[in-house]
Formats: sequence, C-alpha cells, structure tokens
Amino acid sequence: MSHNLQLNAEGKLKHFLTIDGLDKALLTEILDTAESFAEMSGHHVKKVPLLRGKTIVNLFFENSTRTRTTFELAAKRLSADVISMNIATSATSKGESLLDTIRNLEAMFVDMFVVRHGTSGAAHFIAEHTAPHISVINAGDGRHSHPTQAMLDMFTIRQFKPDFSTLRVAIIGDILHSRVARSQILALNTLGAAEVRVIAPKTLLPAYVETLGVTVCHNLTEGLKDIDVIIMLRLQKERMTSALLPSESEYFKCFGLTPEKLEIAKPDAIVMHPGPINRGVEIDTRVADGPQSVILRQVSNGIAIRMAVMSMAMQTQGAT
Ligand code: CP
Repeated sequence: MSHNLQLNAEGKLKHFLTIDGLDKALLTEILDTAESFAEMSGHHVKKVPLLRGKTIVNLFFENSTRTRTTFELAAKRLSADVISMNIATSATSKGESLLDTIRNLEAMFVDMFVVRHGTSGAAHFIAEHTAPHISVINAGDGRHSHPTQAMLDMFTIRQFKPDFSTLRVAIIGDILHSRVARSQILALNTLGAAEVRVIAPKTLLPAYVETLGVTVCHNLTEGLKDIDVIIMLRLQKERMTSALLPSESEYFKCFGLTPEKLEIAKPDAIVMHPGPINRGVEIDTRVADGPQSVILRQVSNGIAIRMAVMSMAMQTQGAT
C-alpha cells in the first residue's frame, strides 16, 4: 500500500487513511490543530466558517455511534454541508458497486468522503479512484486502520500525560481483530512512547505481533505493573470466525479490568476505551465509571480531532 497517497507534493495531508507513513511532526500538527477546536466547544457559538460551501458525505457501510456522530458534528461546526448516507436504504442494496456509488456521489459535486467499511483497504481504494480534488478520510476499515480514533486517543493522553517519552501504555484485549490497536501502536511509537505493551491471550494476538513495536504479556496482573495509560478493547465478535475463548466470564476473570487489578498500575494511571464498552466482559462497571476513566473525554475529543483532520485535508485542496 502506498502511504504517500495521503500526502500532497508539499507533504501536507490530503487524505487520512492510516497512521502508517506519517511522521511525528504531522501527528503533532493534527494534535495542535485540534487544540484550538477543543477550546471552541466551551464557546456559546461553536461554529467556524472554514469549510463553508464544501460538501462532505459520510459513507458508513458498518454500524457506528461515536465516529459517525462526531464526524457529522465536526463537519457542521466547520460550516460544511454534510450528508450522512444510510447505506442500508441506499442503492448498494440493489447491487450497485462501491465505485459506482462513488462516481454518482462525485457527480453531485462532493468535496470529501468519510468512509467506514468492513473491508480492509476500502478507504484507500476510494482515495485511489476518486476525482483528484476529493479528500477521503478513513473512519475505520476492517481490521486495518482507524486513524482518527488513534489521534483522538493520543489527544486525550496528551491532556493528562503531556510527555510521551516517559509513558508506558498497555493495550489490553482483542488485539487480533482491532484496527484501533494497530493505529494506536503506530501513533504511540511515532510520538515516542517509552513502551507499548500488549496484554492478551495468545489466541487474541496477531502472529509476529512484536514486529509492530510492542512488548507482549499474557498475564494482566503482571502486565499492569508500571503502566501510565491503560487502553481496554472489547472482544470483536463480529470479526471472529472461530471460538477463540472458553467463555466471556472466563475472559473477564483473566483479562477484565476490575478496581483491584487497576490498583496494580501506577496510582495516576488513566483508563481508556474506544467504545463500545461491554461491561462485565472486558471492563468492570466500577472502573468504566470510576475516577480514573477518561472514556467519555475520548468521545468529546473526537469532535476536535475530526475537525482538525477535515480542515487540514481541505486546506491542501485549496479550500480555505
Ligand atoms: N470507537 C468507535 O469507532 O466507535 P463506533 O463504532 O461507535 O464509531
């Protein structure tokens, strides 16, 4: 996969498809740009005219609550015209191909597609085939990538722990099926985290996971030692093709984050989760709603990060 497709000739963001191939300076620019948009959420008027006259189409071929809503809110706060297509009632159910859907939407003078798709590489495929003036933002593709989720997670971490170089981050759970984990690992390593540790049963880790730049642990009690940031993942049963675990209750006993297990991490550790959370499967409700949880802050930060990414991508199209 060519990662340069994401950047224009000046190295600026044109599409946002994956963290892979982006450097620390660009990731930091996204975080810094989001900073000013996050401040805006406390204002009486939350809108800026940066994308006035631009048309953004949200194309969600997979279910979503957080990503779809925050992309839509972000587009509206940038004053763009935004359409969120309901794929279940679109002509794709009558056999129209993805490319034909794109061509038809292009004919309506669209400036940006935000794409969620169950197939890895779908957003990249659209970026390769769409008209040159259109930007494509990946809102999650298969097991591959969820770059805006990773960036809103980095933004949230930076609010609580500003120095990445001292951070030990644990990502816990179903790494095998997680596009979020892949994007987080890339972002954390690019931003210079001291350690990214994955904690999971062997059946929920990809082969050669160490080559992603992580340390590996199969025991939650051991793995939580010295950890500053805990990222919990749900079991992504919709992507499992065979039984990988004895039972959910067994999984919770071994890998569920309870208040007692949380005490093993550093006392000021923060607890994160990209959502949706499954209470009593990967996380105890007392932890999910407890004082160390920043899960809802992640959701709020999704608006600012998505405003940052959309405005940066449109800038390279000469839109602002
Ligand atoms: N984190 C995340 O992608 O959530 P949604 O599936 O609700 O968008």
